[in-house]
Amino acid sequence: QKGGFPHFMLKEIYEQPESLRNTITPRIVNSLPDFTEDGIDDEVFKNCENITVIACGTAMHAGIVGKAMIESELRIPVNVEIASEFRYKEPLINEKTLVIVTSQSGETIDTLEAMRLAKRCGSKVISIVNVKGSTIARESDYVLYTHAGPEIAVASTKAYSVQMAAMYLIGCRLGLVKGIYSEEQAKEFISKLLGTIPVIEETLLQADEVKTVANYIKMAPDAFFIGRGMDYTLSLEGALKLKEISYVHAEAYAAGELKHGTIALITENVPVIALATQPAVYEKMVSNIREVKARGAYVILISMGDEVTDTQICDKHIRIPKQDSLFTVFAAAVILQLIAYYTSDAKGLDVDKPRNLAKSVTVE
Ligand code: M6R
Repeated sequence: QKGGFPHFMLKEIYEQPESLRNTITPRIVNSLPDFTEDGIDDEVFKNCENITVIACGTAMHAGIVGKAMIESELRIPVNVEIASEFRYKEPLINEKTLVIVTSQSGETIDTLEAMRLAKRCGSKVISIVNVKGSTIARESDYVLYTHAGPEIAVASTKAYSVQMAAMYLIGCRLGLVKGIYSEEQAKEFISKLLGTIPVIEETLLQADEVKTVANYIKMAPDAFFIGRGMDYTLSLEGALKLKEISYVHAEAYAAGELKHGTIALITENVPVIALATQPAVYEKMVSNIREVKARGAYVILISMGDEVTDTQICDKHIRIPKQDSLFTVFAAAVILQLIAYYTSDAKGLDVDKPRNLAKSVTVE
């Protein structure tokens, strides 16, 4: 059942190229994103003035990545709401809001109730769901199924990647329908999205390198994930994954925020996982890394390609293949998942069934 892997989580991490292929390729017609088979009417995209994403946990983190991508590419405002908060608010949404509900299981009670509320407010809802026929899928106006296959490990990995891919597909279709993207631009976007699949395959070859990092992190009581822009959105997921299965307390910070308080916690040997895959803010990241290094942090740098980096700034350097910075989240996510996985395994913990957690949260 585990296909030769010691845990479902590792198997699912390695299944990501296939899951992405299964989610993306059926929605590509003539090299453009197309939701005809899903029955999603372009009217929802034409009418939308803003977007609200509603979800919990990792699914919500996929929404935060989607927000960063859609806002920077399309200049359409995206609001990401924690479902358990949203459902008890008087929401600021209406019929001009496209609501995207994201859930692997399709049964998370807070997400379901938040979706019901969004529908009562007159918004159209597209759900991004992995489990066929689940309640959220049935009750949403439209559903974009992710084809990740069953996810058994409590820690979500492949479901996260395909949720991000679904957000990218929606963003691209939205851009096309609204005339923000030309056909040429949309085709280029899709080709880059498909290009993340071989990039992930290449990234997975670094598993042994990541294992050595995990052997360090396992000894730490706390760890910090820092990044800017798309990297910050991803660091939120990196921290959640590490906490969830390795019980190492972890926090994610926008790198520029460190000096507003958190840097007080950076002392000798504290692991700092620094994501620096965004060329536009690379130099800014380097100066944030120098700040933590100067306080004795053990820096694990994750960056892209072959930029020349002063070896003094980090203790460990993991590189992901060179690509468009809008798409690095896919490969970088794999590194973060492997860090969490190997840390948990090195501590001898029950990787697939972390304490106090259930795969599907159907109670409040
Ligand atoms: O089934 P859902 O995607 O709605 O679940 C949402 C969260 O409970 C889930 O993503 C959770 O955060 C994961 N265990 C994280 O790995």
